[in-house]
Amino acid sequence: MTPGHLVRSPADLLALDREHVWHPYGPMPAASSPLLVESARGVRLRLAEPVFGQRELVDGMASWWSAVHGYRHPVLDAAAGEQLGRMSHVMFGGLTHRPAVELATRLAEVTPGQLRHVFLADSGSVAVEVALKMCLQHWVSLGQPAKRRVLTWRGGYHGDTWHAMSVCDPEGGMHRLWSGALPRQVFADAPPPGFDASADAAYVERLRALVAEHAAELAAVVVEPVVQGAGGMTFHSPAYLRALREICDEHDVLLVFDEIATGFGRTGRLFAAEHAGVVPDVLCLGKALTGGYLTLAATLCTPRVAEGISRGEVPVLAHGPTYMGNPLACAVALASVDLLLAGDWAGDVARIEGGLREGLAPAAELPGVREVRVLGAIGVVRLDHGVDMAAATEAAVRAGVWLRPFRDLIYTMPPYVTEDADVARICAAAVAAARAG
Ligand SMILES: Cc1ncc(COP(=O)(O)O)c(C=O)c1O
Repeated sequence: MTPGHLVRSPADLLALDREHVWHPYGPMPAASSPLLVESARGVRLRLAEPVFGQRELVDGMASWWSAVHGYRHPVLDAAAGEQLGRMSHVMFGGLTHRPAVELATRLAEVTPGQLRHVFLADSGSVAVEVALKMCLQHWVSLGQPAKRRVLTWRGGYHGDTWHAMSVCDPEGGMHRLWSGALPRQVFADAPPPGFDASADAAYVERLRALVAEHAAELAAVVVEPVVQGAGGMTFHSPAYLRALREICDEHDVLLVFDEIATGFGRTGRLFAAEHAGVVPDVLCLGKALTGGYLTLAATLCTPRVAEGISRGEVPVLAHGPTYMGNPLACAVALASVDLLLAGDWAGDVARIEGGLREGLAPAAELPGVREVRVLGAIGVVRLDHGVDMAAATEAAVRAGVWLRPFRDLIYTMPPYVTEDADVARICAAAVAAARAG
């Protein structure tokens, strides 16, 4: 019997997709048809058949921040192939293996401060769950079980699992539906916008007062440092991170940075925390960790957090997913981190930043555009209205580029290997999308 997938036409596949497959934040059946990707190489996605006259699209999204080296990179392909030849998976309870040990060691080396202990999780959302569990368990173990709430600022996004949702923006975010059902966390106002803006002292005092008011019940403060991603693609001054570190220390509250989107160079520093010169107690990494090859994330903590947990009545971290430390993902992640560090990622990100500033500038003149902002290899065009997804996507595809706008945002965070001409093409497509959407 011939396997069905070898004979099905693109039209058949799309019909079956509509019939059976949920897509992210999608209705069932789907309201619009996704594009069918056949393969990808470098920064280009190859479609199964032409769409609006285009068979190949320059990827302006790096598969949601992850494919920093582009697709089918020979070094990552080789790492995956070699590891497949040994074992793709083995359970992590009672067993360990070289890829996990080498990766955890590398992450401890490259992250700032004393973030020495590494929990390997299977997605960014799970890494956030683990981070929150670490913090809550730390305080339970130290005999302070009342410290079980979390403070964050509005406008954040930390994932789609339950506790992660509870720290996403409660109103503008995607999880409004669950207010009342989710754990009730403490929300500060969103940080004042602008990476280069000087710190608003009154805002810092309000943060300080809110943490002080809730200190007895706060396990942790969790934020995305410097860039709030899926919550609205906003940038803020690193000064607020320094303030948070100080405030958390004053009030005995742990500080968690979610660098799942910002980690591995995206903002121009290897980790966004470095803009502030601040080290959190717990750090979440994901997305670009495997260069976009496989799902893997990591939650790192300091000895203080780990020692707190190990002093408790239950001295173990009560978490252990089936695919924890997946060797294939760890081997690719190690290769990806080493590839990044061996190359000129900082030069590439700075080069792309220059290209985005120049190429997106014309969008600022368009009617319906509120603001254009760029930081590192992130470019954002904010409209003054909700984007017409279909029209904006069509305009980008006609220009030969894959973009995925949302809310009032047309944005790009391309692979670091994107050459100047392709950065210019992405920008032209974003401007066309802003005009159309
Ligand atoms: C800052 C941040 N945290 C957590 C997540 C969740 O990661 P995942 O989608 O891998 O569960 C995301 C995903 O967009 C993110 O941007």
